[in-house]
Amino acid sequence: MSAGDVVLGLGIESSCDETAASVVRNGREVLSNCVFSQISLHQEYFGVVPEIASRAHLELMNGLIAKAMDDAGISFSDLSYVAVTNRPGLVGSLLIGLQSAKAISFALRIPLVGVNHLEAHLYAPFLEGANLAFPYIGLLVSGGNTALYVIRDIGAMELIGKTVDDAVGEAFDKVAKFLGLEYPGGPVIEKLAKTASKKKILFPKILPDPEGDFRFSYSGIKTAVINFCKTHPDVPKEEIVYSFQERALEILARRLFEAVKKFGIKRIVVAGGVAANGRLREMISEHSSGDETIIIPSKGLCTDNAAMVAGIGYQYFKRKEFSNLNCDVHARVAELLK
Ligand code: KG4
Repeated sequence: MSAGDVVLGLGIESSCDETAASVVRNGREVLSNCVFSQISLHQEYFGVVPEIASRAHLELMNGLIAKAMDDAGISFSDLSYVAVTNRPGLVGSLLIGLQSAKAISFALRIPLVGVNHLEAHLYAPFLEGANLAFPYIGLLVSGGNTALYVIRDIGAMELIGKTVDDAVGEAFDKVAKFLGLEYPGGPVIEKLAKTASKKKILFPKILPDPEGDFRFSYSGIKTAVINFCKTHPDVPKEEIVYSFQERALEILARRLFEAVKKFGIKRIVVAGGVAANGRLREMISEHSSGDETIIIPSKGLCTDNAAMVAGIGYQYFKRKEFSNLNCDVHARVAELLK
């Protein structure tokens, strides 16, 4: 591969409840980004039902891949590699994406790259022009993950702290369910919290701040909200979600800047569905000394998509780190990747 080469990669994502396909040029330029969100299929259950998710991926996948190729204006013979999320996620869902990618790789005789979904999320802002440089502190906040990493290189994510129970997005979803709001809870709670007028803090801080503690926890605040609502039935929902949101998000900003201090790394990337939250973005700027470079993808690239998969896949393609056609899916990932 020489410097002027154009490399077109197809990305496939099916780890949870988004079926997605995308074409990316040279790992940085998104030519198409097709996402089908299965929210409407899972809404009545207030969470993702694995069996429904995998069946829907199966029905949707071929059409989405065809649309991604069409939108990019290319044909299959133009592809140099196919990248797919093969870890972590729902096993049945991951399998649909991986089998599709294997078929494409086999038929076109192009390399297959199995991608870590978490690493892909943290790559998302580099599809929007952010300068790809290491190391950086990565804060990953989604429905399934809440974790802090030192990212030293491609494939070298050092986990420094994660949630001991629920993920932050999951807490938004569960609180919304309890309050009779819609699924997913994050965007609904963010919107409703803006209408609060009293803005009193009703819940205690999540975990204290001993130096070097990068753990998160979200089951306590969920229970605190439930207990509070039972004893204070007259407090309006907007005040409750305002207070919940403040507490749920401020620990993320606290821990993030504690990591900046401890590791002396001033580049920050925040990614995952909860990174779409405007109040979190505000809190991160409030905590910043102004010296840090803070990189957050646009909202569309915060939630699950396949452009981030094709993007990080390119970095492995460039290094000739391919996956074997007999590679498998994994529900979890090893915590220290390198
Ligand atoms: O990254 P994502 O699309 O899927 C995975 O979990 O992998 O994240 C979905 C999560 C859901 O829990 C949703 O409630 C949350 O992200 N979310 C938000 C917002 N938008 C989505 N949480 C808080 N504020 C938001 N604006």
